[in-house]
Amino acid sequence: MTGTGKDRTSNAKLIAWVDEVAALCKPDEVYWADGSQEEYDRLSNMMVEKGTYIRLNPEKYPNSYLARSHPSDVARVEDRTYICSEKEADAGPTNNWMDPTEMRGIIKGLFDGCMRGRTMYVIPFSMGPVGSPIAKIGIEITDSAYVVCNMRIMTRMGQAVLDALGSDGFFIPTVHSVGMPLEPGQADVPWPCEANIANKYIVHFPETREIWSYGSGYGGNALLGKKCLALRIASVMARDEGWLAEHMLILGLESPQGDKTYIGAAFPSACGKTNLAMILPPEGFEGWKVHTVGDDIAWIKPRPDGTLRAINPESGFFGVAPGTSYQSNPMAMETLKPGNCVYTNVALTDDGGVWWEGMDGDPPAHAIDWQGNDWTPASGKPAAHPNARFTAPAGQCPTIDPSWEDPEGVPISAFVFGGRLSKTFPLAYEALDWNHGVFMASGMGSEATAAAIGQAAIRRDPFAMLPFIGYNMADYWAHWLKIGERKDIKLPKIFRVNWFRKDENGKFIWPGFGENMRVLKWIVDRVQGRAEGVESPFGLMPRYEDITWAGLDFSREKYHGITDIEKEGALQEAQGLAEWFAKFGDSLPPELERQRKQFEERAKAAPDVWSAAA
Ligand code: GTP
Ligand code: SPV
Ligand code: MN
Repeated sequence: MTGTGKDRTSNAKLIAWVDEVAALCKPDEVYWADGSQEEYDRLSNMMVEKGTYIRLNPEKYPNSYLARSHPSDVARVEDRTYICSEKEADAGPTNNWMDPTEMRGIIKGLFDGCMRGRTMYVIPFSMGPVGSPIAKIGIEITDSAYVVCNMRIMTRMGQAVLDALGSDGFFIPTVHSVGMPLEPGQADVPWPCEANIANKYIVHFPETREIWSYGSGYGGNALLGKKCLALRIASVMARDEGWLAEHMLILGLESPQGDKTYIGAAFPSACGKTNLAMILPPEGFEGWKVHTVGDDIAWIKPRPDGTLRAINPESGFFGVAPGTSYQSNPMAMETLKPGNCVYTNVALTDDGGVWWEGMDGDPPAHAIDWQGNDWTPASGKPAAHPNARFTAPAGQCPTIDPSWEDPEGVPISAFVFGGRLSKTFPLAYEALDWNHGVFMASGMGSEATAAAIGQAAIRRDPFAMLPFIGYNMADYWAHWLKIGERKDIKLPKIFRVNWFRKDENGKFIWPGFGENMRVLKWIVDRVQGRAEGVESPFGLMPRYEDITWAGLDFSREKYHGITDIEKEGALQEAQGLAEWFAKFGDSLPPELERQRKQFEERAKAAPDVWSAAA
């Protein structure tokens, strides 16, 4: 399975490209991954021998491994992420841009000989079920066996993809190197990477649909099918081809009456997409069923029947471990149970298990922390890195939707957007129409820091796509507005939610997690024409009596706390949005400024405190 790949594919373009990359990177050998279990086990064993992996207790964690990254390599590096479009304006004001010719020069220097002493793996992968009309094929070249094994969980990978590609199929070429060539005789380290952050590069060429990633082995920096391909490059392809590539979970909710409503929901990183994607309905919701399709990315295409159909381009979850428990996310815990998982940067317990902050039960008396040091509860620092993650097969999730691999996708009836906002923004509201919904999503964000005067600065993260849009954000908004103009599409309703309002003691008022089902039910009932609401300055809101409270003691008084809209706060937001939109100059779609003015007018006309709790 080494060599040129002629025995594996007849795609001349692919073979020529692999040869070209090999000539540049100068690896010791080239290996074409076939995606088999035998190969996965062999590479995993090799990583155990080399110290990259620690095999976990096979009784409790069958076929599962722990990896500890270099302390400099623990998350995506947004400052080192580039969109190298021909024109700077096409990257827009929210992206790092560099002239593509200049960047190609840098890349040539970085990748020249970067795989010396290592194996160059060729990974054929499909984002989406192989052969789906919504799926795309990528090839990742990497010098990391960790990447090969994680890509096997996160994507459909191997020979079946080459077979689907055929002799002249289109693929997205992506190249990854940990950036640590080995001199003859030089010993490897468990987690090779370029320790100097300034030498890490995550580079996208949107026009030629190429990705080059150098210096990091972690998550979205290295598993190039995920953020690099499925969001940054795919968002550009989606613009050109008339579809949507979004940072969204996908879930289906089946009511006791038997109707099934699919929702795509965008929340910024670490705001609870994985929780919501596999929500366990609380007491009072007997008869409701949850069907998980995806927890991070959605590709959504208009289909000839007028529906917008979504697929999860991934086949695994790369979820944040700390905070995950039977309390906060029971279905995620159940997903891990059968094993077949990789854990990165969690703690190792004395019986060969894993642990992280927020897991059920008492902390272990002793563990090895994510950096390999002895740890006890008295250590005074976290045992798991806050961005420690599990890589788990999506098919192991007990609530996985029977249709999750349907090549046609699932029909989306509602989009939901949300960020972390401690005040002003109510629990839930519905857009008055599509354009209003696009406006709502374009200004969404989370609080960066609460300033002393009580004025919270909002770090805008439109559509939860700020780090992931492959072109000018304002053009992306125009693309969403254009979808709304299409007469052949039955447009989903658009909602915004906020689980994060706080009381005067700084505590969350809304219990969240499973209780979010109460808001999802209102959303579903709105879609199905079964629920009412009342118009507020922000949008259509559920009154206290529009929410199902059975099984939860939540007073009208508390409902005031998460739904009242202070005029001053709303006007401040209208002003904040004016400043935000100003960043985009002439590229801002005029419709969004028109929506902003209407919002400002509604806020001005409202009483000092607008209430849906009555
Ligand atoms: P990425 O994988 O980084 O894209 O993020 P994600 O959106 O999947 O986020 P993740 O599941 O890591 O977010 C978990 C965080 O959200 C934890 O801090 C949870 O405590 C918090 N969270 C999730 N749901 C709720 C909720 O309903 N209420 C509150 N207060 N916190 C929540
Ligand atoms: C995110 O940051 O939104 C993630 C994790 O989902 S990573 O894949 O590392 O980007
Ligand atoms: Mn994400």
